[in-house]
Amino acid sequence: MKAVRFHTYGAPGVLVYEDAPKPEPAAGEVLVKVHAASVNPIDWKIRAGHLRGFRDYPLPFILGWDVSGVVESAGAGVTGFAPGDEVYGFPDASRNGAYAEYIAVEESRIALKPRSLDHVHSAAIPLAGLTAWQALFDTAALKASQRVLIHAAAGGVGHLAVQFAKLHEIYVAGTASGRNQEYLKQLGCDLPINYETTRFEDVVHDFDAVIESMGGEVRNRSWKVLKKGGILVALIGPPPSEDDARAHEVRATIIWGQANREQLTEIARLADAGKVQPEIAAVFALRDAAEAHRMSETEHVRGKIVLRGI
Ligand SMILES: NC(=O)c1ccc[n+]([C@@H]2O[C@H](COP(=O)([O-])OP(=O)(O)OC[C@H]3O[C@@H](n4cnc5c(N)ncnc54)[C@H](OP(=O)(O)O)[C@@H]3O)[C@@H](O)[C@H]2O)c1
Repeated sequence: MKAVRFHTYGAPGVLVYEDAPKPEPAAGEVLVKVHAASVNPIDWKIRAGHLRGFRDYPLPFILGWDVSGVVESAGAGVTGFAPGDEVYGFPDASRNGAYAEYIAVEESRIALKPRSLDHVHSAAIPLAGLTAWQALFDTAALKASQRVLIHAAAGGVGHLAVQFAKLHEIYVAGTASGRNQEYLKQLGCDLPINYETTRFEDVVHDFDAVIESMGGEVRNRSWKVLKKGGILVALIGPPPSEDDARAHEVRATIIWGQANREQLTEIARLADAGKVQPEIAAVFALRDAAEAHRMSETEHVRGKIVLRGI
């Protein structure tokens, strides 16, 4: 099959479009013909070697942990899916990913894709959407009328987090540049904050939760927007400091998004009801994955970048 692989860590140019072995579905797995795969920041962080020592990969390696496609065949013991099913999901990030013609994926990591969305839009959802969902509801356990500050609210995780929170009648403040203020309003954000002109801690106080995906100075300034007992949910390392959390009388944790078939099914239901709409910043051909990485590395993408399958 064709795939995009890298043989050495480095700049986007290390991504090579080439022939690679077609995977075989093991017991409990299905083989999916990839119609679309999306790009997440973790992809270029791995490619650039930023995660070496923390997560090591056998080279050459295929990136990409969002897939939307069609089940081609099923391994032994698969009960939930049959050839021809249109599925989307979050494959195991320790294995070869979806920048390829085919991927073998455990059936527990996929669900039927939203019927009303094409493969490009469906592929935009799983990793970012599940991370957003789990941060808001599983970790922060937010309920109607509580208040959350979502950083990078126009990004891949953020734009879905804003939509999910509003569906649960949660009050949402979100940060983005001036360019994205109107977009945040369209998403339903109650308090869009232009980080170029406003310090978020000047306008956000006594919040129940912060979804924090920037780290560094943004994290340091985020503690003070929380009310006592509130929670900072970090999406990037290092884990938040327990000393800082204690000093502000709040809780803090770091999470890594997990595949979850029930949640994917629920998100597909919401998409089909017209309540969730992934934003596509750009679609690239699979062979142009390096271009897609260059765009993602700007860290100013609105919504998601998607690679179209072949
Ligand atoms: N823990 C996990 O499981 C998990 C899962 C997914 C992602 N992540 C991590 O979470 C981070 C965000 O992921 P993503 O997919 O949402 O990334 P992304 O789509 O690349 O984020 C881009 C967004 O960041 C915004 N942004 C840039 N600088 C900002 C600032 N100073 N303040 C507020 N917003 C800013 C940009 O808005 P403007 O253009 O308006 O500046 C843009 O919309 C990444 O570091 C990623 O690795 C972690």
